[in-house]
Amino acid sequence: MSTKQHAHWSSRLTFILAATGSAVGLGNIWKFPYMVGDSGGAAFVLIYLLCIGLVGLPILVAEWLVGRRGQKNPANAMADLAKSAGASRGWMIVGISGILGAFLILSFYSVIGGWSLYYTLSSVTGAFSGQDADGISALFSGMLASPGLLLAGHSVFMLLVIGIVARGVTKGLEGAVRSLMPALGVLLVVLVGYGMTTGYFGEALSFMFNPDFGKVDGGVVLAAMGQAFFTLSLGMGIMMAYGSYLNEEINLLKTARTVIILDTLVALVSGLAIFPIVFANGLDLSSGPGLIFVTLPLAFGNMGGGVLLSLMFFLLLTFAALTSAISLLEPVVEFVEERTPLSRLASTLVAGAATWALGIAALLAFNVWDGVLIFGLNIFDLLDTVTSKFLLPLTGLLAIVFVAWVLDREGVRQELGLGETGAKVWTVISRFIAPIGVIAVFVSSL
Ligand code: PHE
Repeated sequence: MSTKQHAHWSSRLTFILAATGSAVGLGNIWKFPYMVGDSGGAAFVLIYLLCIGLVGLPILVAEWLVGRRGQKNPANAMADLAKSAGASRGWMIVGISGILGAFLILSFYSVIGGWSLYYTLSSVTGAFSGQDADGISALFSGMLASPGLLLAGHSVFMLLVIGIVARGVTKGLEGAVRSLMPALGVLLVVLVGYGMTTGYFGEALSFMFNPDFGKVDGGVVLAAMGQAFFTLSLGMGIMMAYGSYLNEEINLLKTARTVIILDTLVALVSGLAIFPIVFANGLDLSSGPGLIFVTLPLAFGNMGGGVLLSLMFFLLLTFAALTSAISLLEPVVEFVEERTPLSRLASTLVAGAATWALGIAALLAFNVWDGVLIFGLNIFDLLDTVTSKFLLPLTGLLAIVFVAWVLDREGVRQELGLGETGAKVWTVISRFIAPIGVIAVFVSSL
């Protein structure tokens, strides 16, 4: 049980870097564009932005607030705060389901981290140079068809994550986040510039921002909401854990705004980098998880300096994936460490090994087990769906309901530094709009 005095982030900037390191990852660059492609474009983007603002922002703030007040790991922080508010300790379920979510997500996240590693390597060998769309697609399907290759990528990626978490150097990464994240941003902008030269940039813009609501159904809305949770690392207790290291001076609302703007920008710019290439080459918009792996290499393979740019891009993507993956493993490790007599190192190995093992089932879904369907989904899609579309939103819903309805309202108002009007807006959003929004999305998707 952690009763030791908690350390605190040294500054607001450090905290923003850490939270952004967790938030910005494969979710922004790999997942967001293919979900936009799958869900028909701008209407999805618009609903996603609404979810980010009306549901994601309040829940992010709520999670940080619980963590900062509780000064403990998510399950215990929830239990303590509930107890002192005269509510049931059962609220600790929020912490526990969050840890389960983190474990399930990391298992398939690491598989994609492995793809990114493989593409880093393929950049060095010049595998993309001069390839046409068919060649690039063949490269990608070749990778998927090989369990050995996927296993190697997944294993190396997990080893990196385990190594970093075991050494407890997570904080040392802040410096790296500070320089590498902007570098990734610059590269994405370069790719957008390339997209402008294809002659299909206008088409991409209109695909992403000119909505056709005819394509929207309950499934699209649920997907957009799930993505909002996923991309902000919500509903997993991760942001709660980060909040427990926050000191009192930091303004939660302003900080949340900064993190959300950064995260959203990366997602939108990724889309703007990818869709011109899709249109220019007549590629399939709904090619799913493979989308960035069949579009970007095509661009890299056919532009000057492409080998170097490609190497840098996939290295930085791997790095962004690592900082998110670390934040996913950390709570699982803490959980094992607190509830078993195991040391930190042993807990890391156990948690890492369990995640790695589940990841193997996820990667086999692309080849030998592609016929294994549960509720009509293969294992990879099942893990993704269960977490993004159900576990995270439900856990986040409980977190916001707890802060809005269980904690004392005046205390929360003061903690958020809100005036009278601000407090009213916060009350309406946190008590009604956000929770009802989540519930409505569930109901409409049934
Ligand atoms: N937010 C990360 C991303 O977008 C993924 C992640 C999800 C990280 C949940 C931590 C927790 O890639």
